[in-house]
Amino acid sequence: MDKLDIKLWSLAARGQIVPDRSLLKTPKQIAAIKKSAVLNTAVLDHVEAHIHAGMSTEEIDRLVYDFTTEHGGIPAPLNYQGFPKSVCTSLNNVVCHGIPCEDEILEEGDILNVDVSTILNGYYSDASRMFTIGEISPRAAKLVRVTKECVERGLRAAKPWGHLGDIAYAINTHARRNGYSVVEDIGGHGIGLEFHETPFVSYVTPKGTEMVLVPGMMFTIEPMINEGGPDFFIDEDNGWTVYTEDDGLSAQVEYMVLVTERSVEVLTK
Ligand code: MF3
Ligand code: CO
Repeated sequence: MDKLDIKLWSLAARGQIVPDRSLLKTPKQIAAIKKSAVLNTAVLDHVEAHIHAGMSTEEIDRLVYDFTTEHGGIPAPLNYQGFPKSVCTSLNNVVCHGIPCEDEILEEGDILNVDVSTILNGYYSDASRMFTIGEISPRAAKLVRVTKECVERGLRAAKPWGHLGDIAYAINTHARRNGYSVVEDIGGHGIGLEFHETPFVSYVTPKGTEMVLVPGMMFTIEPMINEGGPDFFIDEDNGWTVYTEDDGLSAQVEYMVLVTERSVEVLTK
């Protein structure tokens, strides 16, 4: 047992949830995953530079596929558990996992989450941004702004040797203070060597609960914030698209982070 093993073991003995050592990335793995994350950010920048009213979400899928593969990567969503496209595009009342489609055309007033995940040399990265099309309603603008603030507050609450629940508490508190709700049961995840690793990351848990943030851990901060209630349903036909139950707007922003000895570092956003 080395020093870290003893520390993890004594935390576990006090009832804390600690990561398995296999979840803690080595410096070599971190370097490789950071390269994947750089490409992931570039893909999002590419989408940001080309998104416009009148284009279809299918065209966004093409932008993502072409840019990623031209730079030596593979879009992680493509064929992942049967997902048919290279990116998730979630429009207005879609919470997440929207499937790009030829006849879904972006219109003035829309809000859209584009969730990009990349495999480079076998290493995974993941982030999403909100895009607004032309002039949007004050109601939609506020939801998008508060969702970004939620993720920033979650990030600021994240400290090495703190807990995942600290992040959730900061996010949930800010969302509720603004009259919004945070989606439960769909959340973030560990990432790096696989697309979805342990732990599941909830954004509704209390401060000081859930897994301890140990240096070397990588995971996503990606709350889904609804203007109405938190309930959702999944499209029966495609088995993927998640809609708000009450048809209200939903927004999401995703950062992928690394816990270091001193801080929690953003790898792609
Ligand atoms: N990017 C999504 C996430 O953050 C993954 C969606 S799975 C997919 O977990 F197959 F829909 F891409
Ligand atoms: Co994602």
